[in-house]
Amino acid sequence: MALVKMSELLHSVYGNSYAIGSFNVSNMEMAMGAIKAAEELKAPIMIQIAEGRLKYSPLELLGPVMVAAAKLSTVPIAVHLDHGGSMRVIKLALDLGFTSVMFDGSKYSLGENIDRTKEIKALADKYGADVEGEIGKVGGAEGDYKEVDIAITSVAEARRFSEETKVDAMAVAIGTAHGNYKVEPKLRVDRLKEIAAVVKCPLVLHGGTGLSEEDFHNCIHNGIKKINIATASYDSVAKYVKKTIKEKPNANYFDISDAAVQGTQANIMKHMKIFGLENRI
Ligand code: 13P
Repeated sequence: MALVKMSELLHSVYGNSYAIGSFNVSNMEMAMGAIKAAEELKAPIMIQIAEGRLKYSPLELLGPVMVAAAKLSTVPIAVHLDHGGSMRVIKLALDLGFTSVMFDGSKYSLGENIDRTKEIKALADKYGADVEGEIGKVGGAEGDYKEVDIAITSVAEARRFSEETKVDAMAVAIGTAHGNYKVEPKLRVDRLKEIAAVVKCPLVLHGGTGLSEEDFHNCIHNGIKKINIATASYDSVAKYVKKTIKEKPNANYFDISDAAVQGTQANIMKHMKIFGLENRI
C-alpha cells in the first residue's frame, strides 16, 4: 500500500538537495515502467497524466490502473492529474482516488486564476487530496493544445497566488517549455531564486525534457522540489519499440509491450539519477 500524497513526498525533500520526479504515463506499460524504475532505484515517484492526453488514454480506464499500480508498489507513489482544466476531469480524478490534481489556470487573468484555483482547492480538501497551481506561462503545451508563449512568473504574483490559494505546490514559468526544445532554453534561475525566497509552498518545474544536467541541478539547488518529465518518456518508448521491430522483424505484440515498459523505465531511471533520487526511501 504505497499510495501517498504529493505533499508528503515534496515535504520529505530536505533542503535543496534533490527533487521529486513526476513522470507522465499514458498506458499500463508506461505505469509499469515508471514503477519498476522507482523500485529499482529505491526512489519515491509521482506518476501523472495530463487532461490533454485523455483522448488517447481515457481517465476512466487509465486512472484505476495508475492507482492500483501505486497501491501494489513497495515505494511511495503519488498519483497526480497533470494540467487539469475542467471541473469534470478534476472531479473524476479525485473520485478515482488520485492523491493530487493540478489546476492549470495560467490562461486566465491573475484574479480569475486565483478564484478558480481556490474553488479546486476547496473541492480537493473534501477528498483529502492536494492541489498544484500554475502562475506565469510555461511555453508549449502538454497534450494536443494550442502552443502558448512563455510568460516568466513575477515574484509579486507568485507570492499573492500562493498566499491566497494556499496550493500545495506551485508551477512557475522560468523559461522552460513543454516538448522538445526548438531553441536552447535560457532559464531564469535568478527569478526562481527570488520566488523561492518569498514563497513557502514547494515549486514545480514543467517542461523538463531536453534540459541539461546543469539546468536541473541549478533549479534543484535554487528551490525546485518537483520536476515534470513527459516527452522524453514518450520518445524513449517510441525508440525502444522501433529498435525492437528493427532487430526482431518477427516481434510479436508482447515484445512490443515489453519494449514500452523498458523504454519508460530507462528514461525515468536516467532522470531520477540526475535528480538525486537514488536510495531516498
Ligand atoms: P516535457 O514534455 O517537456 O517533459 O514537459 C512535461 C511537463 O511539464 C508535464 O506537465
